[in-house]
Amino acid sequence: IYSKLQIEPADPIIKVMVRSAQDSSPDKVDVTIGVYKDEDGSSLTFPVVKKAKEILHTNDPGHSYTTMQGIPEFNKGARDVVFGEYGKNDNIVTIQTISGTGAIYMATNFLTEAGWKDYYVGNPAWSNYYQTIDFAGGKAHTYTHYDEKAQKIDFDSLLEALNTAPANSIFLLQTCCHNPTGADFSKDQWKTIGELMKKNKLIPILDTAYQGFATGDKYEDAWPVRYFYELNIDFLVCQSFSKNLGLYGERTGALHVVVQDRNLLPNVTSTLLALFRKICSFAPAWGARIAAEVFKSEELTKEWDQNVADVTKRLRTIREKVHQKFVELKTPGDWSPVLVQTGLFWYSGLTEDHIEQLAVHHHVYATTYGRINVSGLNDANIDYFCRAVDTVVRG
Ligand code: LMR
Repeated sequence: IYSKLQIEPADPIIKVMVRSAQDSSPDKVDVTIGVYKDEDGSSLTFPVVKKAKEILHTNDPGHSYTTMQGIPEFNKGARDVVFGEYGKNDNIVTIQTISGTGAIYMATNFLTEAGWKDYYVGNPAWSNYYQTIDFAGGKAHTYTHYDEKAQKIDFDSLLEALNTAPANSIFLLQTCCHNPTGADFSKDQWKTIGELMKKNKLIPILDTAYQGFATGDKYEDAWPVRYFYELNIDFLVCQSFSKNLGLYGERTGALHVVVQDRNLLPNVTSTLLALFRKICSFAPAWGARIAAEVFKSEELTKEWDQNVADVTKRLRTIREKVHQKFVELKTPGDWSPVLVQTGLFWYSGLTEDHIEQLAVHHHVYATTYGRINVSGLNDANIDYFCRAVDTVVRG
């Protein structure tokens, strides 16, 4: 009965993560998957998360089902985190999801139910977007997000897509710390995007998986979401707490649907619940409970803000050190984008061949399209890493 099944192409991110795990060399440098690593190379449990877990151990909530929409305190807090002062408004429907991927899965399937299936995605994009759109029965159209030669955003390409896409086309945009390029829109660019979206009746999905890691301030990083809210248009926000609370494996996230016609709020809610029932009934509780403890407490929220600021500061310092090293080594090429880009990822411009040589000859593992997770670098390996890059670039 299984003879028709094919071997599916491996996901480009997971593929290199697995390859790296198989290398036991003490020299290994793993800058593959988007997990924040601390200075000692271990994945960080946020200090605030440790405190929230202690509270939950003392007041054990048990393991029963939650509600199909999610844990109410989590949903409320998640909404406030991303919408700020607009979070309390009554025209946002929130459903807890299986982290950011689950939020995108829900958003795409929800829009299929609503009758919309044309997506516009800027390349290069997070590799999983395409599979998810396809799985929801959508069709992906592409434009260029990042001009590889000029090493900056190709805004003209997006403008052309915004001006030519038929009404009700869906644009999947990332609010900050763009994955994989680290190249974000300026506020002026966001304003242009928003005005065109409104004028041309387009549907934005704002994917926000790294809130806080661009400026160190979660509120500031969520500015595009508040700006879109002020436009009074229908839009969706996919939110992940994998990175900015370090809850990767707990699959903690939310989908928020902003609805202009309040008469349709019950229909939106009912469609989301019916969809979620089909895929998994109830979202995982543990991560959402941890997050809810943080949201509920002013003191823990402050500590969370500090944890995020600390992570962002370290990411910035690593970027500066990498740049400085290339200057010292006089490595051929323009390495300034490492300083300009934000978040976890540096879109290095290294070719697939460079990346392969790094793996084979230097035990350095990055994604094949040259994306480097800068948090995998630290004082113990930056020099080794930069010298390895210098060697492969010189050929
Ligand atoms: C990444 O891009 O590395 C992360 O978002 C993890 C993933 O699932 O791809």
